Amino acid sequence: MSDQTTLSPNDSREPQGDGTRIAAKKLFIKTYGCQMNVYDSARMTDVLAPLGYRPTETPDDADMVILNTCHIREKASEKVFSDLGRIRPLKTERLAAGKTMVIAVAGCVAQAEGAAIIARAPFVDIVLGPQTYHRLPELVARASRATPGSRGVLDTEFPAEPKFDYLPAPRAQGPTAFLSVQEGCDKFCTFCVVPYTRGAEYSRPAADVLREARGLIDGGVREITLLGQNVNAYHGDAPMDSCASKGTWGLGRLVRALAEIPDLARIRYTTSHPRDMDEELMAAHRDVPQLMPYLHLPVQSGSDRILAAMNRGHDRDHYRRIIDTLRTYQPDLVLSSDFIVGFPGERDADFKATLALIEDIGFIQAYTFKYSARPGTPAAAMADQVPEHTKEERLAAMMSLMMTKTRAFNASCVGRTMDVLFTGPGRHAGQLVGRSPYLQPVNVFADAGQIGKVVPVVITRTDSNSLHADLRADSSRTEIS
Ligand code: 5AD
Ligand code: SF4
Repeated sequence: MSDQTTLSPNDSREPQGDGTRIAAKKLFIKTYGCQMNVYDSARMTDVLAPLGYRPTETPDDADMVILNTCHIREKASEKVFSDLGRIRPLKTERLAAGKTMVIAVAGCVAQAEGAAIIARAPFVDIVLGPQTYHRLPELVARASRATPGSRGVLDTEFPAEPKFDYLPAPRAQGPTAFLSVQEGCDKFCTFCVVPYTRGAEYSRPAADVLREARGLIDGGVREITLLGQNVNAYHGDAPMDSCASKGTWGLGRLVRALAEIPDLARIRYTTSHPRDMDEELMAAHRDVPQLMPYLHLPVQSGSDRILAAMNRGHDRDHYRRIIDTLRTYQPDLVLSSDFIVGFPGERDADFKATLALIEDIGFIQAYTFKYSARPGTPAAAMADQVPEHTKEERLAAMMSLMMTKTRAFNASCVGRTMDVLFTGPGRHAGQLVGRSPYLQPVNVFADAGQIGKVVPVVITRTDSNSLHADLRADSSRTEIS
């Protein structure tokens, strides 16, 4: 038995495998951007745990601060430097008190800007890209050997060995979990930095994904969201023992295999590209009841001219046909999308075509962004950049349209019975919060023993972005497992 059981919660020493103990340290990670970064931050926490690092809520008294950054839009990367400016005095205070603070910049800004970060913020100790965080322990050791005046440690390689092979198995932390199955992107949309910061598409072998999923489910996870920058481009090696399916598995096949694991109640995947929506995956929406009827399938624009300039590789009709097929397979499916307004050359007529597509498809949710020119991407060099005030106007118009769509969908749920996966305590005493199949937060007065269960509830009302519901009279008998 591990001697971990002999530790009290306040014990500041952590046992090592060899019986020695090292001092517990506080780790603060700030995560910017997408769910991939949320997953990566959790994995960095896992990687650093054997060194004694335990998560803390604020940077003030942290021994190590990691900013896990996003480079997708200009604002996201600028935010990193302003946050670094706020953290610097904390480090100075700690140093004056004879303590230390290791500051690391991870993620896509680190990948894109590398040594420039250390030049601009010399108090940063470590800069590491998204593909090298399995090397964090070694980077921390190198940083701790640094002498005064020496420069921060930089690791923004794309190593040949996939980081997943070196990471400890993630721990379940509640009834829902992300599971990264694919990374990188070969699509090269003309506005996007991801192919440069995350590199070429890579899919984890299916056996690794299934093993990680089983571990999470054993730890109490009931809903898994498969993650990838282009998750439906997934093409992982088929498991060795699967003689019927040599070669590679697509996402549809992977979803079917996951659905065979007992106790996994729900499967989701994000983010997808329309071009990779193959028949097997679409049919999984018909055949796999665990696959939730909510799909985030970014279309970016409703104008064929703009879609071509974006190098999306599909037009509006192609997108429409995919949705039609998906709805034949799963009539209950609801859709969300990302949109960019003010892409270079976007005229009023193009923008109107996007609004028309929103009506036509009936998206219930959207993430809308003003186009942000990213250095090194083809769109940044395009003529006909759209003025900022026009972007602002279009953003406001689209957001207000989408707010009415989201609210209308929420209102249409009132009176319906739907299954909710309870994920934790709600804001009020006696209340739990859960997730509907359509990813809406649902508040219900229910016993804490229901956390982690999928329970049918009746939706009674909505407020701005969540639903309220009552347990169905028979819900304790009809828990769905
Ligand atoms: N400007 C604005 N939005 C962008 N996105 C990606 N790159 C840019 C950019 N340069 C948006 C896209 C993508 C989402 C993750 O971020 O809509 O789907
Ligand atoms: Fe970026 Fe396009 Fe790849 Fe999505 S598909 S990550 S938007 S290049």
